[in-house]
Amino acid sequence: MAKKNNTTPLQLSDALLSLDSEFQITRGMVQEIAAAFQMQMQAGLLKRPASLKMLPAFIGRPSGNERGSYLALDFGGTNIRVMLVNLQGNGCYQVTKNKSFPLICSQEGYDLTSPDAVGTDMFDYIAKQIKTILDQNERYLLGHTFSFPSCHTGINAASLICWTKEIRTREVEGKDITHLLDEALQRAGIKNVKPVAILNDTVAAMLAGAYGDRNCDIGSICGTGHNTCYFEPNGPDGLPMAINMESGNFDDVPFSVYDWLLDNNSHRPGEQRLEKLVGGCYLGEIVRLIAADMVEEGAMFPDDKGNPGMLLPYSIKTEYVSSMIADETPGLSNIKIWCRDHLGISNSTWEERAALKHISGLVVTRAASLVAATYIGILNHIDAGHNRTHSLVIDGSLYQKLPGFADRITAVLNDHTVNNGQGIRLIKAQDASGVGAAVAASLCAAR
Ligand code: BGC
Repeated sequence: MAKKNNTTPLQLSDALLSLDSEFQITRGMVQEIAAAFQMQMQAGLLKRPASLKMLPAFIGRPSGNERGSYLALDFGGTNIRVMLVNLQGNGCYQVTKNKSFPLICSQEGYDLTSPDAVGTDMFDYIAKQIKTILDQNERYLLGHTFSFPSCHTGINAASLICWTKEIRTREVEGKDITHLLDEALQRAGIKNVKPVAILNDTVAAMLAGAYGDRNCDIGSICGTGHNTCYFEPNGPDGLPMAINMESGNFDDVPFSVYDWLLDNNSHRPGEQRLEKLVGGCYLGEIVRLIAADMVEEGAMFPDDKGNPGMLLPYSIKTEYVSSMIADETPGLSNIKIWCRDHLGISNSTWEERAALKHISGLVVTRAASLVAATYIGILNHIDAGHNRTHSLVIDGSLYQKLPGFADRITAVLNDHTVNNGQGIRLIKAQDASGVGAAVAASLCAAR
């Protein structure tokens, strides 16, 4: 953002103009990012140094004939879900049991994601929760959607490379996750559950899509974290194999001064650079850093320098960003109430509220454009001439709920693909982590 000179405060309109140019992703940039992404995919596949990990998932295409009831564990962040999923063939399923539980609960005084907790505490708690939905007379095969970078040596063997999404529990990184879960199930006295598959949430989304759609070959998550996988036509054994790219770690992305700040203050500076621009975990913080800078420069809320609501890291959640963009009231009265209740600022002007809305829109539009550029890179890799139809399943709160996010992805894809995006179907996932885990468990049962 432009800086004021020593005497006059920066005009809000000037500050916003300079921000517009800093956050714009032009058509040319989309092309460059897509090309860089495709190059990193190829480098990663050849095991050359690359920011894309390109991790084989040891899972191929489902046939659509998978049937039966499977237990699905969805561990994607601070909230965990256990489900019983009944697969009925050709994309049909029913979720017959479903329970969610948090890994952090301030009222009950626990945080299993902090460095004070260790892996066994975390998995003992998960096992205890699983136990509550079991029927003692049944036997269950379990598929585990584990949404963190993990190195697989088989469909049921994966060790955590490193935590993401600011989780910091000790004694999990480097360990075999199925082992940790299995041991915890035994400690909890659970004898009728057998973990048979572990998979990333992107792979679960893609399997859930491919279960009923032969054209589905890309799965992506746009939620707290970000990542995409695809079916590599020539997998390690010559057959199509799901490859978890860990694309949140893609690093050939434009970083603004605010992104550098966020990165420097994060748990792992230099890592997950794309995710830090597009993940729900971070979008609110980018908006806060920009707004705090504008306050500091005197461009808005001039009487509120040092406002604690603005200074506290991560005090602006991505949900607030979403509500600010969604505020269509003439006086932006929802933002006014939010400024009063969250920032303690009761005399905000319409211009200041409009600026907050504008900043939120810029951050979200940039995120969606970057994500779309990576999808173009993938399409160019698997089908250079865009000759076939591709279904791309997307899950996650940003894609499902953030105003403007999904539309922007569609617009960028239409603009950069042959036939105006006719060959791409973007599909909003439903229950994807659970259904994908059940499909994976069923593929294992059939082996
Ligand atoms: C993780 C990925 C995951 C994504 C979406 C990222 O932080 O590294 O493994 O797929 O979040 O949940």
